[in-house]
Amino acid sequence: MDTVMTQLTGQGDELLFRDAAEILKNGGLVAFPTETVYGLGADATNEKAVGDIYRAKGRPSDNPLIVHIGTAGELERYAAEVPEVAWKCAEAFWPGPLTLIVRAKPGVFAPSVTAGLDTVGLRMPAHPAALGLLQTSGLPVAAPSANTSGKPSPTRAEHVASDMDGKIPYILDGGPTGIGIESTVLDLTSNPPVILRPGAVTAEMLRPVIGDVNQTADAGDVEDEAPRSPGMKYTHYSPEAPVWLIGPDREQIRNAVRLLHGEGKRVALVAPEDFGGTGADWYFRTGRQNDPASVSVQLYASLRACDGTDADIILATTVNDEGIGGAVMNRLNKAAGGRLFRN
Ligand code: TXA
Ligand code: MG
Repeated sequence: MDTVMTQLTGQGDELLFRDAAEILKNGGLVAFPTETVYGLGADATNEKAVGDIYRAKGRPSDNPLIVHIGTAGELERYAAEVPEVAWKCAEAFWPGPLTLIVRAKPGVFAPSVTAGLDTVGLRMPAHPAALGLLQTSGLPVAAPSANTSGKPSPTRAEHVASDMDGKIPYILDGGPTGIGIESTVLDLTSNPPVILRPGAVTAEMLRPVIGDVNQTADAGDVEDEAPRSPGMKYTHYSPEAPVWLIGPDREQIRNAVRLLHGEGKRVALVAPEDFGGTGADWYFRTGRQNDPASVSVQLYASLRACDGTDADIILATTVNDEGIGGAVMNRLNKAAGGRLFRN
């Protein structure tokens, strides 16, 4: 299949949304930018189209998909009942990087969207292209991140193309995404609500709006637990070479590199600005040390860039876990399988 990639410019994009909406209505897949990462979308009511998402990604079919909506009012159309907390969250954080797990209205979605659960994740994304596509099509759009399963999520259209070229008909290129890691997943079917996947909307931001919020214990040993958010059990966000976390300490990194070189290994370093001169064979910069939001924007592009090198090992520096830093550490821990380099 030929993959068409078109560039959004903010002018005349409506025509592109119409083309893309047409593809969705005909059961095709469209990759589109959101404020978090690029999504791979299909009509959430079309079982065959949703099946194609799982096939294109190579994704295990017991891992349900997020359904994207173009207006908050659609909560009513797709949830069996809309709890008061859902309206509060929507009002405070939509459009935005927050996915709400609610009971699904029966018989609406293609069965594989929810992977057999009676709940569904709904999200109204804050990106003009995503909203343009959703509102033009009027469809609920099932969309996981547009990467091959197991790869870091795509934050640029080129990432999507490198994973999906030849597998999907259409990519809307809206440039680099603004947040860089996936939305917060908040389960509203438990009381108090539980954050199943941390993201840019943090517990500290949610509590003033909806009161008590729990966080799932963020284990590096994700394999061991029965996960509440099915996606959390898979090793995610991983480049090809093994990732080891290391403290943001230049001296320690320099020693680690020396040690690894002594073992004949080539080293890629993923670290904020100002970590030059460590002797690493490759160095991919991720924002500024005391600004986790700037790290989050660059993280996946840097991990992906490591795949273009001959590195045998990737050292990635940890960040302070305040604010979005907690979500960044969650993704880093998963990429590293919890491995921390000590020397
Ligand atoms: O930012 C994002 O959320 C991106 C963009 C494209 O919107 N999407 C995304 O989708 O990250 P995906 O499919 O890669 O991740 C969906 C996560 C998985 O961890 C999945 O297990 C969880 O949401 N999830 C989806 N439906 C669920 C449900 N009914 N109950 C519990 N967890 C659910
Ligand atoms: Mg994903």
